[in-house]
Amino acid sequence: MTDFSSYLSTFSQDFNQKLPNLFPLPKGEENRVIKAMYYSLSNGGKRLRPFLVTETAKLFNISSEESFMTGAALECLHTYSLIHDDLPAMDNDDLRRGKPTCHKQFDEATAILAGDGLLTYAFELICNEANPFSSSIKNKLCSLLANAAGAFNGMVAGQMLDILTEHNTDTKQPQKTINRIEEMKTGRLLRYACEAGAVLGQATEEQLQTLNFYSRKIGTAFQIVDDILDVEGKQELMGKTLGKDAAQGKLTFVSLYGLAEAKTIASQLISEAISALEVFGGSAQRLKELAYFILNRNN
Ligand code: IPE
Ligand code: IPE
Ligand code: MG
Ligand code: MG
Ligand code: MG
Repeated sequence: MTDFSSYLSTFSQDFNQKLPNLFPLPKGEENRVIKAMYYSLSNGGKRLRPFLVTETAKLFNISSEESFMTGAALECLHTYSLIHDDLPAMDNDDLRRGKPTCHKQFDEATAILAGDGLLTYAFELICNEANPFSSSIKNKLCSLLANAAGAFNGMVAGQMLDILTEHNTDTKQPQKTINRIEEMKTGRLLRYACEAGAVLGQATEEQLQTLNFYSRKIGTAFQIVDDILDVEGKQELMGKTLGKDAAQGKLTFVSLYGLAEAKTIASQLISEAISALEVFGGSAQRLKELAYFILNRNN
């Protein structure tokens, strides 16, 4: 294990340990939806989004305890996006995070509700009293997260475009379209992770711009690598069904440019992301390592 992998693994173990406290199980059989939410959220995920929140906030001397709630909220929202992405009407997947998908383990209606529950819970967590920030910071976090996740150039918009281009060989300007898909469906939540860390730390406009640039680059690279791993990855490491993009006629960087060029593009984006962090000096070392990890990951 590299130094960075073990650092990330320590982070995710710590994060996973704190999660059950956020999911007390109320009495009443409707708690089935909470069981489904927690089922999909617990274990298996790399926790890269809360990691990014934490590491960005650390640049401004915000501790990981202080940023935990903000990261947990984002992980809830991300997990909702995975549950809905796997539904039969979307990508129709059976395996996620090494386990049966939520609708396979429970049923479709429960999975839809579990997604809804995680999406709304994200905002509740940000506003929670245990989140030790001012109302104006929480307000900003909520509004940025809603925008990043939503239909106006956010994750939902990216998912819409992803579905619309499926099996559609007539897509106009496919290069522009694939950039928009990757930027929105995946990039926006990763971008939010850095924005959130910067908001917690009350970053200057210039610092915010730098982090924005970094996160846009790693966001697109992250999805390009996901598309590459869909072709070349190992299912037992990825914990999800592979080979699906081609089978479902998805427009991806790989379908458009081929594997070799997709790798070159991802690698270029990661170099640009890392260079941008120079202004933070040594304190951004983990964020630089994360960028390399995104490029070289196998899960
Ligand atoms: C998977 O995200 C969905 C995409 C945006 C490609 P991750 O690869 O971060 O999934 P987890 O959280 O580790 O399961
Ligand atoms: C989904 O992209 C991104 C989300 C918003 C969840 P993919 O459909 O490629 O993600 P995987 O490969 O199923 O994780
Ligand atoms: Mg999808
Ligand atoms: Mg999918
Ligand atoms: Mg994929």
